[in-house]
Amino acid sequence: MINVLSPAELDQMRVVGRMMANLLNACCQQVRPGITTGEIDAFARAYLPTLGDGSAKSGCLGYFGYPGALCISVNEEVIHGIPGARVLQRGDIVSLDVCGSYHGYFGDNTRTVVVGGPETLTADVRRLLRVTRQSLETAVKAIRPGVHLSDISHLVEKTVAEGGCSVVREYTGHGVGRHLHEDPPVPNYGKPGKGPILHEGMTIAIEPMVNLGKPAVRVLSDGWTVVSRDGSPTAHFEYTVAVLKEGAEILTPWFEVDPWTDEWLKK
Ligand code: MF3
Ligand code: CO
Repeated sequence: MINVLSPAELDQMRVVGRMMANLLNACCQQVRPGITTGEIDAFARAYLPTLGDGSAKSGCLGYFGYPGALCISVNEEVIHGIPGARVLQRGDIVSLDVCGSYHGYFGDNTRTVVVGGPETLTADVRRLLRVTRQSLETAVKAIRPGVHLSDISHLVEKTVAEGGCSVVREYTGHGVGRHLHEDPPVPNYGKPGKGPILHEGMTIAIEPMVNLGKPAVRVLSDGWTVVSRDGSPTAHFEYTVAVLKEGAEILTPWFEVDPWTDEWLKK
């Protein structure tokens, strides 16, 4: 069953969404050559209690035993990278996935950023980042009440294929609200015109995970970290959105606090 939120509940989602966007942005600003992923995790843990009335909680920490406050996935790591001793280097691409709850509602968002700036990247990796971001933005713009969820999924897949990259199929976006993961699953591929129809008041996390190489992935022996099988670089962008009459409202608007990705992704 797909939950439909009341206007008051949507306001709660706006509050937690903005908090998680701010936390994500603050974590992205920590990214620099020489910092460890564990230090970014520690930063997130210290930042959480400064939000709102201090009761915001990480949605990752303790989730099926997950040990981090956020997921940090580097280069060929797709999702669920565990923060630790890894030292970030110039030219790495780093996906920060930040989710959490506040007063009973969840927000979830992700961005892939570059260590040391976009000039450290090859043209192919630059294309990977641009295509992944574009697939998310294109999907969000197509959302309105009455469309099939698979129309949105299809649009992600099409945008990624046109950009010469591949969609990861084993993991999906999801409904999000009183729980981090709710119905419906939101795949990043599919045939148009199928599955559930979107209605006003639904809240979903859309999160294309895109490989520069082949789409296959595997899980490392730590039981969490998902990597591309061929070792190719991979990117991940995510918003939590609400379906409103006039279209999607982005509840985690990290781009509003992002001074640089927007600009250089256009080039
Ligand atoms: N934020 C992730 C998502 O999009 C969930 C991470 S839960 C964790 O679904 F346990 F893996 F951290
Ligand atoms: Co998510």
